Amino acid sequence: MDELLKWRGEFPILDRTTYMISNSLGAMPRGVYDEMHAYADSWGKRGVRAWEEGWWDMAVGVGDKIAPLIGAGPGEISLHQNVTLIQAVISSCFDFRGPRNKVVMTDLEFPSIQYFYHEQRRNGARVALVPSNDTVRFDLDKFLAVIDETTLLVPISQVLFRSAFIVDARAIIEKAHRVGAHVILDVFQAAGTIPVDVRALKADFAVGGVLKWLCGGPGVGYLYVRDDLRAKLRPAITGWIAHRRPFGFETGSIDAREDSFRYLNGTPHIPALFACQPGLDILNQVGIAAIREKSMRMTARIFEGAKAHGWRVNTSENPSERAGTVSVDCPHAAEVCRELLGREILVDYRPKAGVRLSPHFYNLEEECDLAITQIAEILETRSWEKHAAALSQA
Ligand SMILES: Cc1ncc(COP(=O)(O)O)c(C=O)c1O
Repeated sequence: MDELLKWRGEFPILDRTTYMISNSLGAMPRGVYDEMHAYADSWGKRGVRAWEEGWWDMAVGVGDKIAPLIGAGPGEISLHQNVTLIQAVISSCFDFRGPRNKVVMTDLEFPSIQYFYHEQRRNGARVALVPSNDTVRFDLDKFLAVIDETTLLVPISQVLFRSAFIVDARAIIEKAHRVGAHVILDVFQAAGTIPVDVRALKADFAVGGVLKWLCGGPGVGYLYVRDDLRAKLRPAITGWIAHRRPFGFETGSIDAREDSFRYLNGTPHIPALFACQPGLDILNQVGIAAIREKSMRMTARIFEGAKAHGWRVNTSENPSERAGTVSVDCPHAAEVCRELLGREILVDYRPKAGVRLSPHFYNLEEECDLAITQIAEILETRSWEKHAAALSQA
């Protein structure tokens, strides 16, 4: 008996679809309806008083529901709109104009983060984009060798978005610290699928969002800053929420708080901070150990199914190197993905990855087999062909 299946009833979409896309957007818990209602009630009935009755503290307070999932402590997380903007807040704590101005990243890093740091070249950043020449992983030794005394920042995903490869974050953090660089650990694709312990790893920063494996919906990214750095660093992207006396409306430069509010700026995204809570509550109750155990079983099942059909898989065969997704690069993968969506099997397609299949704790193990047999059927009956024209124009 799979204990985790008792949670299925909390996610209405599971009755209607085979939901295998938690790497992109986790299923919505039905508690979100009530939570959005509570938001509307607080605004509708309490009006401006809602700020002092809870809204003001939410951009740090709600972070306490994320902290246990990534090994952080209470009050150590601030919440923002997305990870790209969080990278901007972090990098605004540093000066790229000195001799220590290198940003080291792999070309397997999420593209938005690559775009952001390449634009920082105008501020003096030197970007060392280490080529991977591979769709699954990068060469760790080669990557470590590029981190040197001129390195300022190393933004790195603990789990790579295309392949779900688990990176040796400890080795990267140790090397970075030996040469005086800071690591921004992106745990977006890790939190909610594998155990994450940002404190044990001694990560300088950890970032991620709640909309994928944490079932928290769009609009909430999280930032953890290591305890000993928190009050020392000074974000240039700042604003009145970070001020010690925001309602003093003092003019001139900021007298910034020393806690996690220090990393905030303008008015927080209150509706999203309401919407994310049911998912976080559920994830905390389910527990990461149980999720990981089931996830390894399900991803193995998909992996073996894909291999049996002779399809290329852009995910490691070694379960200890593989997080929650299996990227199946079957023939005509983009068209196959379109056809799967038409058949209510929700997955996505990414170039150099293939069809990404991401079962979560709420999936039936048989759904893994169903996805594989449907892909085989789509290829055999050539039903993918009807999507070819549309995709070639895209
Ligand atoms: C590992 C990783 N980092 C960053 C992002 C993008 O984050 P955001 O859209 O919040 O900036 C994603 C989105 O899929 C991701 O998978």
